[in-house]
Amino acid sequence: MPSVVSLFSGCGGSDAGVIKAGFNVLMANDILPYARDVYINNHPQTDYILGNIKNIASFPAAELLIGCYPCQGFSQGGVRDASRKINYLYLDFARALKDIKPKAFIVENVSGMVRKNFKHLLDDQINTFSAIGYNVKFSVLNAADYGVPQQRKRIFIVGIRQDLGIDYIFPAPTHGPNCTNAYRTIKEAIFDLPLWPVGEYYDLDFHWYYLSRDRRQDWNEISKTIVSNPRHMPLHPVSPLLYKVEHNIWKFVSDAPARRFSYKEAARLQGFENLIFPETDASSMNNKYTVVGNAVPPALFHAVAKALPDIWG
Ligand SMILES: C[S@@+](CC[C@H](N)C(=O)[O-])C[C@H]1O[C@@H](n2cnc3c(N)ncnc32)[C@H](O)[C@@H]1O
Repeated sequence: MPSVVSLFSGCGGSDAGVIKAGFNVLMANDILPYARDVYINNHPQTDYILGNIKNIASFPAAELLIGCYPCQGFSQGGVRDASRKINYLYLDFARALKDIKPKAFIVENVSGMVRKNFKHLLDDQINTFSAIGYNVKFSVLNAADYGVPQQRKRIFIVGIRQDLGIDYIFPAPTHGPNCTNAYRTIKEAIFDLPLWPVGEYYDLDFHWYYLSRDRRQDWNEISKTIVSNPRHMPLHPVSPLLYKVEHNIWKFVSDAPARRFSYKEAARLQGFENLIFPETDASSMNNKYTVVGNAVPPALFHAVAKALPDIWG
């Protein structure tokens, strides 16, 4: 089994994907206590180091390095500021890459990084990883195209060590109009969960910003993007439809009760099958939503990892 070091591992969405693809995650790291709690309850075999990446001086040997450094600086949901310190955590990933020199690496990040005003940061990452000795490719993939019931576009940067003389080819979509499988729907993902799971969904008011766009999809559609901030979580299809009043103003068609997806539904819509949410000192509802919304859909990471050439022997 090829070995993996995972950085910015969160609750383990990316790692569930590589584990399913046949890899063994030796070490994982994140700064968020509840991400650690969820991860080790779901993958107890991994050595999870809780803390700032900057305090990790050396890394174990591994054949694959994966990492999804944070993205607030480029994110649609966050403040888009190319100069923010958080945008430079890729340098810690590069430090690990230099130290481990694995056969390959995979990075996931928000697709906003390909925008013109952030392009220099993407170029810096690609140049840094190339200079360490990797053939680097990147592509924006939509999770829905790989069997996740959610529109979620993310950039993947994949590198293969130059001495292996092989280029990476991104996997073709497996779900959707030109594929043998139809897109997975909200209904397929959550039909068996209770309609009103009190205590499992964020139920504060729908503020003006929330109602500045249509947040609802029907049962037979694909979910809108699952985000980490529960205030912005899409609506459950049990909610009434929204109609457009004018630019940036939407209203419910009736006074029937409406609600956001619960954190358990959000996990299903990210493609987690049965994610365990342990009750710990850090297990607030907010933290449950945060770790799920931050995660990479396991099926998407699985598709990218599975497409790595056989360089492990
Ligand atoms: C996009 S999320 C990673 C999601 C994860 N790969 C998954 O699939 O569940 C980015 C993560 O980086 C973590 N992080 C942010 N700053 C960090 C730091 N200085 N050291 C370690 N982890 C950090 C955040 O807590 C967050 O969980």
